[in-house]
Amino acid sequence: MKLFFALSLLVAIGSLTSCYYDNEEDLYPQNRLCATDSMSYANDILPVLNAQCLSCHSAAAQQGGVDMEGYTSVKKYVDNQKFVRSVKHDAGTSPMPKNSDKLDACTIAKIEAWINQGALNN
Ligand code: HEC
Repeated sequence: MKLFFALSLLVAIGSLTSCYYDNEEDLYPQNRLCATDSMSYANDILPVLNAQCLSCHSAAAQQGGVDMEGYTSVKKYVDNQKFVRSVKHDAGTSPMPKNSDKLDACTIAKIEAWINQGALNN
């Protein structure tokens, strides 16, 4: 009985110390790599639009009647929530970018963070 108690104590200590090393950053390395604080339209959003959206949604192209060229145009789709909902492939919106892979989770997190931080023209 004493031996059993000693063994369980060892197991308990062992699992406590292993928990100590399971910190969030090691378990979810993408959290560490995906910084979403202080998002900027110019640095974080515009490059995504340029690379993934403006081929179809420039002022000249306007596919589907959607113009996302320039902050004022983009802000319209922030305010009606279609920007974030289309890139998250929410039901009831057209999934964007059309006919391409969904944006990676970090890019979507950055778009959401920028919107939550006020969708500033910064
Ligand atoms: C290959 C062309 C193409 C690309 C690239 C593209 N779109 Fe679209 N988008 C369209 C078309 C066409 C529509 C009209 C709806 C449809 O046909 O699905 C549309 C519709 C939309 C709408 C309106 C959705 C709705 O439900 O009313 C939004 C918002 C939008 N796109 C945002 C984006 C964003 C943001 C990106 C980049 C991440 C993007 N699109 C990339 C072609 C494109």
